[in-house]
Amino acid sequence: MTDLRLGILGYGLRGSLARVAHRPGAGSRVTAVADLDPAARADAADAFPGARISADHRKVVEDPDVDAVVVLTPDHTHAELTVEVLRAGKPVFVEKPLAIDVEACDAVLRAAYDTGTRLYVGHNMRHMPVVRLMRDIIARGEIGEVKTVWVRHFVGYGGDWYFKDWHAERRYTTGLLLQKAAHDIDVLHWLAGGWTRQVQALGDLMVYGANPHRRAPGEPKADDWYTEDGHWPPGTQRALNPVIDVEDVSLVNMRLDNGVLAAYQQCHFTPDYWRNYTVIGDAGRLENFGDGPGGVVRVWNTRRSTHRAEGDAEYAVPDVQDEGGHGGADPLLVDEFLRFVRDGGRTDTSPVAARMAVAAGARATESLRDGGAPREVPPLDPELVAYFDRGQVR
Ligand SMILES: NC(=O)c1ccc[n+]([C@@H]2O[C@H](COP(=O)([O-])OP(=O)(O)OC[C@H]3O[C@@H](n4cnc5c(N)ncnc54)[C@H](O)[C@@H]3O)[C@@H](O)[C@H]2O)c1
Repeated sequence: MTDLRLGILGYGLRGSLARVAHRPGAGSRVTAVADLDPAARADAADAFPGARISADHRKVVEDPDVDAVVVLTPDHTHAELTVEVLRAGKPVFVEKPLAIDVEACDAVLRAAYDTGTRLYVGHNMRHMPVVRLMRDIIARGEIGEVKTVWVRHFVGYGGDWYFKDWHAERRYTTGLLLQKAAHDIDVLHWLAGGWTRQVQALGDLMVYGANPHRRAPGEPKADDWYTEDGHWPPGTQRALNPVIDVEDVSLVNMRLDNGVLAAYQQCHFTPDYWRNYTVIGDAGRLENFGDGPGGVVRVWNTRRSTHRAEGDAEYAVPDVQDEGGHGGADPLLVDEFLRFVRDGGRTDTSPVAARMAVAAGARATESLRDGGAPREVPPLDPELVAYFDRGQVR
């Protein structure tokens, strides 16, 4: 098998995924990289010897020695760059979120349909062992038919990851209820078997907004911008982004098209970082404790009682090798993308699902900035839904 030649757009933090995809002699290798930042270009030259490195994404998109393109730039650039790659006729992997508003998502899906070029959206959480475990428990019928899903995301590293660079600004992300929550809204849709039709949200900027310790515009991030156990409590954070206009707490209620009611809550100043899912069906309930190796999912489904910590069944979260990051999900995500580029067919991640997650997050953000007024989530053109359901075959 000859290597698929990959072009990378954007080699920042998420360059980790490009390194996971660089498997010379084993099916794929990075042959070209574009990044606007000279330091990122120097890092890419070190990581991928012999690759063509440039500041202009068009050099990668038009490179005859690039078979497929991976878009790892900030969120607000995803739609435009992805459409450009699709129009060039090259299969494309775009990081989540697909775009920062509904209209841009729909334009990307339309371009994929019109050009017949393969589109893959990198929702790596669909490959996370804890998510697959919960989905399998539900599929086996252990909690009956899903009726309600409640997700709490404790974003303990939020101050480091989301309030020190572009993530903190609406113009680059719309808000963290879209940028960060797109993962969990997608998983919630997957577990519930439906799409959000109506949302209602409240949120606020409670902690980081009042912190005066900001970088000057243009000043690079501090060397110690991230620490595993420091920067606590959150008020000790320094060198935050010059502009902060996204929320650090948000709570959203959702009504899905299959009748399921769901809730998602996100907080960026907790001491701990993890996600807690509770899924309640008409014959039981499940909940995860910890979301990585060492974590468990417990099921209560045999009888009524007062609180029973141990549950009726307990399943360990599988401990897959985590060489590439995100609980072992990233190598599996790359495997699926490479298989899709070569052979086409159906995938566990889905461009339609990616659009639905952005649509719910975007309308929820509108709701929370409008006093919690309910918002309807616009449906996607059924022609596009059918095309992607068929595995991108016309
Ligand atoms: N799926 C996940 O778990 C996950 C995790 C982290 C980040 N992400 C997503 O990955 C993307 C990248 O995030 P990051 O943290 O690496 O950001 P980053 O800011 O560290 O890196 C982005 C890079 O893109 C470059 N860039 C910007 N515009 C460009 C353009 N037009 N052409 C070429 N290069 C350009 C920047 O110079 C920078 O080096 C974001 O969309 C983010 O939401 C996903």
